[in-house]
Amino acid sequence: MQDRLIDSFMAEQLRSEDDTRSRADGADAESSNRSEKHVNRRNLLAALGSAGLISTAGCLGLLGDHDETGPRADDPTPVPTTEGGEEQTTSVDAEIFDIEWTVQGVTTEVSSNEYLLDVALDEGVDVPNQCQQGFCGVCTSEVPGDGTEYVEHSGADYLSDEQIAGGFVLPCVAEPKQNFAIETGKQDAADSYSAGGEEETTEEPTTEADVETYAVDWTVQGATTDVASNEALLDAALDEDLDVPWECGHGVCGQCSSEVPGPGTEYVEHDGNQYLSDEQVEAGYVLTCVGYPKQDFEITTGVKDEADSV
Ligand code: FES
Ligand code: FES
Repeated sequence: MQDRLIDSFMAEQLRSEDDTRSRADGADAESSNRSEKHVNRRNLLAALGSAGLISTAGCLGLLGDHDETGPRADDPTPVPTTEGGEEQTTSVDAEIFDIEWTVQGVTTEVSSNEYLLDVALDEGVDVPNQCQQGFCGVCTSEVPGDGTEYVEHSGADYLSDEQIAGGFVLPCVAEPKQNFAIETGKQDAADSYSAGGEEETTEEPTTEADVETYAVDWTVQGATTDVASNEALLDAALDEDLDVPWECGHGVCGQCSSEVPGPGTEYVEHDGNQYLSDEQVEAGYVLTCVGYPKQDFEITTGVKDEADSV
């Protein structure tokens, strides 16, 4: 319970930071390593301490672990050890599970009150991630069966109940309930998953009957591609092996920010833009990963910094 309060507090703190800082600052932080946003108990304690809120930290249980501060007056009697030094467990003890990361070829021990991603990153395991708050889906992974049997999610906004029941989980907000193997890099598989095993029809901005094809001139790459009105600009560029910047592929990170000759809404229909503001789009910035063409136009990639400064 304490950990859930802490996690809620930390998530709120992150959201608050995101709300208050400028987009430019946010973009810089995102384009560097998102794992730097991994807020741990120590960071939070330091923040509360500097704000004179140590008593709040106490209420939240942040001062809790005995090895950090020593037992509090109302703590239960310390766990006795046997002669061999082996700790006897109590009912309140967290359990430790072996998590086998099949893609990375390593196994980590994860406590039932820790998030899988936190432990993986702490141990240098290369697990894809971005928001670390359950909404971007970049960390989507697969477990051997119904996800609810393997993990306890805390805010898995990205996945539906159906997807979780189908074996997809978000390590950034998932605590283990047993030993299991986990396969990362499953965002696309989860996106196209439906309970019947059929591909979900993704919502396209236009129907098949309305599809038109436009000539998109990539000025930096010196190439022109035909892009259908129901095809994301980024997909078309990558299909043609154009070297265009991108990272999340889901409208979250802003790395694919590009410039068109006028208001973005005249050139592109966005479907899932979570990075650019209306003002930035109006100023001519678009996201190629979730941008669908509405006419022929020129596009200049690699302008994230310029977009951030609008
Ligand atoms: S890192 Fe974004 S949902 Fe897990
Ligand atoms: S690649 Fe991340 S927003 Fe487009």
